[in-house]
Amino acid sequence: MKILAIESSCDETAAAIVEDGRKVLSSVVASQVEEHRLYGGVVPEIASRRHAEAISSVVREALSEAQLTLDDIDAIGVTFAPGLIGALLVGVNFAKGLSLATGKPLIPVHHLRSHIAANYLTHQELKPPFLCLVVSGGHSHIVEVEDYTKMRVIGETRDDAAGEAFDKAARTMGMPYPGGVELDKVAEFGDDSAYILPHPTVADSPYDFSFSGLKTAVINLIHNAEQKGEEIHKENLCASFRKAVVGCLTDNLFKAAEDLGAETIVAAGGVSANALLRRELTRICDEKKFPLYVPALSLCGDNAAMVASQAYYEYMSGNVASSDLNAVATLPIDYR
Ligand code: KG4
Ligand code: ZN
Repeated sequence: MKILAIESSCDETAAAIVEDGRKVLSSVVASQVEEHRLYGGVVPEIASRRHAEAISSVVREALSEAQLTLDDIDAIGVTFAPGLIGALLVGVNFAKGLSLATGKPLIPVHHLRSHIAANYLTHQELKPPFLCLVVSGGHSHIVEVEDYTKMRVIGETRDDAAGEAFDKAARTMGMPYPGGVELDKVAEFGDDSAYILPHPTVADSPYDFSFSGLKTAVINLIHNAEQKGEEIHKENLCASFRKAVVGCLTDNLFKAAEDLGAETIVAAGGVSANALLRRELTRICDEKKFPLYVPALSLCGDNAAMVASQAYYEYMSGNVASSDLNAVATLPIDYR
């Protein structure tokens, strides 16, 4: 079964064709990041307009890269939630039009579920159940994935997402949006014990995260240094901050893994590209003998191949949308 999928939840307009949930026939991503960088973050109004401009050619390119026509496609998948509402609506409406014009089924896909599915494209043998750390710009979840479309949130952030904390800390250090990527690179050259930062936990919720205190600690540290005319050692601060965030993520993840008796660990989302997070997951999984799966670096960020993969499993479980499908800005990953 060949699924053409569309992704437009944030600042990438993407289309891809995937066969039977696992084989990528084409994947096209048009990023708007350069334009949003001018403003230090994603401007929703601009994002919607750029999606509207790019979507037709991105879909056409996905078809031509796969050397297929719409007649060869069996279903249309689309990210319908969560994300920027105006951005999502562009993809949802385009997918509805395609579905209506071709008579092919329309499959609604949850963005975070699709991040998890990036692993099905990277690791052909991977199947649920597993415990997944889903870390993106907007979300930080520990999810028990019981089946492809059946999941339970075990822990989540009470305030900022990990990606958001990385981006805000990086921005305070003068790095361009999205700063998480740059902060990760700079951290490679720093001493991670140079700055003492808090390690926030959430009382009575051992699997939940809280990153806002950590982010504020870094911002205060930088502002205090500025006021005193002291130099910040950027590499060391990046390394110390990265270690603190990754420590929170891995501590809670492995606490949950042991308490729940998880057998396999998976990571997903933009932040799963983080070099220290990948190293730490590998080290701890080796030590505790958990099989570990992380997405290929090229599939960590937003793309439509992961949407097409998840769409296949949604379709198999009977999740097909009617022509009144709407976009939804917030929706839990375990929605039914
Ligand atoms: O999943 P994603 O591409 O988009 C959302 O669904 O939000 O995640 C984007 C987030 C951004 O906050 C970005 O800074 C962060 O992922 N990110 C990273 C790295 N690469 C991307 N954060 C830390 N280290 C990285 N290497
Ligand atoms: Zn994403």
